[in-house]
Amino acid sequence: MTVLDRGSVEDLLADAPTSNEKILSFVHSIAERTTPDRIEWITGEEDQKRELQNQLIEAGTLKPLPKQKDSFYAASDPDDVARVEERTYICSREEADAGPLNNWMAPDEMKSILGDLFAGSMKGRTMYVIPFVMGRADADQPMFGIEVTDSAYVVLSMQIMARCGTAELKAIEEHGGEFVECVHSVGAPLEPGQEDVVWPCNTTKYITHFPEERVIWSFGSGYGGNALLGKKCYSLRIASAIAREEGWLAEHMLILKLTSPEGEVKYVAAAFPSACGKTNLAMIEPTLEGWKAETLGDDIAWMRFGEDGQLYAVNPEFGLFGVAPGTGYTTNPTAMRAIEAGGNVFTNVALTDDGDVWWEGMTEETPSHLIDWKGNDWTPESGTPAAHPNSRFCTPITNTPTLADEYENPNGVPISAILFGGRRKTTMPLVTETKDWTHGVFMGSTLSSETTAAAKGQVGVVRRDPMAMRPFIGYNVGDYFRHWLEIGRTEGAKLPKIFYVNWFRRDDDGSFLWPGFSENSRVLKWVFERVAGTAEAVETPLGCTPAEGSLDIDGLDVTEEQLRKALAIKPEEWAAELKSIEEWYESLGDHVPAELKAEVDSLRQRLGVK
Ligand code: GTP
Ligand code: MN
Ligand code: MN
Repeated sequence: MTVLDRGSVEDLLADAPTSNEKILSFVHSIAERTTPDRIEWITGEEDQKRELQNQLIEAGTLKPLPKQKDSFYAASDPDDVARVEERTYICSREEADAGPLNNWMAPDEMKSILGDLFAGSMKGRTMYVIPFVMGRADADQPMFGIEVTDSAYVVLSMQIMARCGTAELKAIEEHGGEFVECVHSVGAPLEPGQEDVVWPCNTTKYITHFPEERVIWSFGSGYGGNALLGKKCYSLRIASAIAREEGWLAEHMLILKLTSPEGEVKYVAAAFPSACGKTNLAMIEPTLEGWKAETLGDDIAWMRFGEDGQLYAVNPEFGLFGVAPGTGYTTNPTAMRAIEAGGNVFTNVALTDDGDVWWEGMTEETPSHLIDWKGNDWTPESGTPAAHPNSRFCTPITNTPTLADEYENPNGVPISAILFGGRRKTTMPLVTETKDWTHGVFMGSTLSSETTAAAKGQVGVVRRDPMAMRPFIGYNVGDYFRHWLEIGRTEGAKLPKIFYVNWFRRDDDGSFLWPGFSENSRVLKWVFERVAGTAEAVETPLGCTPAEGSLDIDGLDVTEEQLRKALAIKPEEWAAELKSIEEWYESLGDHVPAELKAEVDSLRQRLGVK
């Protein structure tokens, strides 16, 4: 393998648009190791974007979509379709700091593996340098990053998901050159004359985080969550570790603005595990007369205390990276309208004969012929999904017709309520208001969901997903719980109320007890009115549930009997649940705070179960 000598890297950097030492030495060191043929700095300009699109069309990676505005289709390698949790590592110096839910390797050991993998890994390719900011550069505490990558698909997707380019480069310089180093390679070097493939990647994959150094290295995958390093890697794993140090929260949450018929406004954040309805709720169209919901974010919320003691949430992202299947004109018309506005990159969806995209659940009628995500002819008789269950639309968030004006507030909106929720057929009521912050943290720490067909493995198994952050906590989960408790003890804090919701409870015949989707606005109204102090509630062992008549089911096809079942707290179910929670805490080791274990005991007493 020929390695470029120092002089040639210098040549590649001769026209670098910065003289900042930290930036240059970072880019220099990666170029020296990965030996790309070219270095291109991403400016954010339209011409450069067009040029990259054209290159990817020529390479066969992108297909233009004549039926859509300025949008493209990509199909990945069939083995590169999702986040790879088993290949994701937190490389803290001490193993205990990564905790029982993360894969861990000592930083030196991992760096030596990565050093070999990245040596010459960009050979024959262009190394793109993407300066970006998560959130806004004019925030009180702007959060910068620079991603170097050898994938133009990653560049185009990053430009949708984060604010990227020359303005961000200048802002990094002005702020003293502090940024999170994000290094990405698909791991497919090209020998001279070697023909490229449509979706370069490597069977060996490593998604690695060095929280103490605030560094991310990702190898072998081109898929969103593994390759768009500003999203899960930075905004959740690295940011959660920074947030712990600095006294704030980086969470897997949507942010929503609610306006009552009287014009009163409240902001709500909600954590649901992947594929449990964040994007849906973030774009809800309320069915209740006079109520308005507006979108601020659908996946990630950073929450910091304001001077008034309230928690202010910002959405650090600039785009939507939504699960396509199940997103349709009946379930999420807002998302469909955002997509119609154009500028999308679709990955692993199906193609219609007239050059549009399709996925299961988009329309009521299934087209009679499609090209499926693997590139094969498909008909409804094929017996396989036309779109991959984890196929995605990547869409500018500014397309969202319900986007709230406050999206542009650099320091966010004050949160009045936090919702935790998962997908449970039994046990968990439609909505409960937890007793206090500690009880709310307890409920969040035990958040659980039944696995869906969208993920590998057995379907319908209860999996604990604390605060919906299980794959995203950048440090020890027990310390993460402690951090949540400490947030609650912050001096002068005016804390949001914490609620627990479950849209997915089933009747004995297997049908949903609650219609869900846009009708969830009725639960949001009750939450709003609990915060305002106007809704009635009854106290239960789990906290407060709606008093009879206080949850507005006017005009809804739900009987009082069904609602009672949806809200029921059944001691026999809870006896099993408490046991499972105890086992869960046990499995997490000795960092779990004693206060949370005490919550199990007091809940058992309140429930009167053994
Ligand atoms: P990530 O983007 O992966 O983090 O997931 P997400 O939380 O944004 O999930 P998303 O909104 O894409 O979840 C979609 C799935 O939840 C689809 O299968 C929907 O049909 C289902 N879903 C969403 N809201 C409801 C609801 O209120 N009731 C029911 N029954 N299903 C719902
Ligand atoms: Mn989503
Ligand atoms: Mn997510």
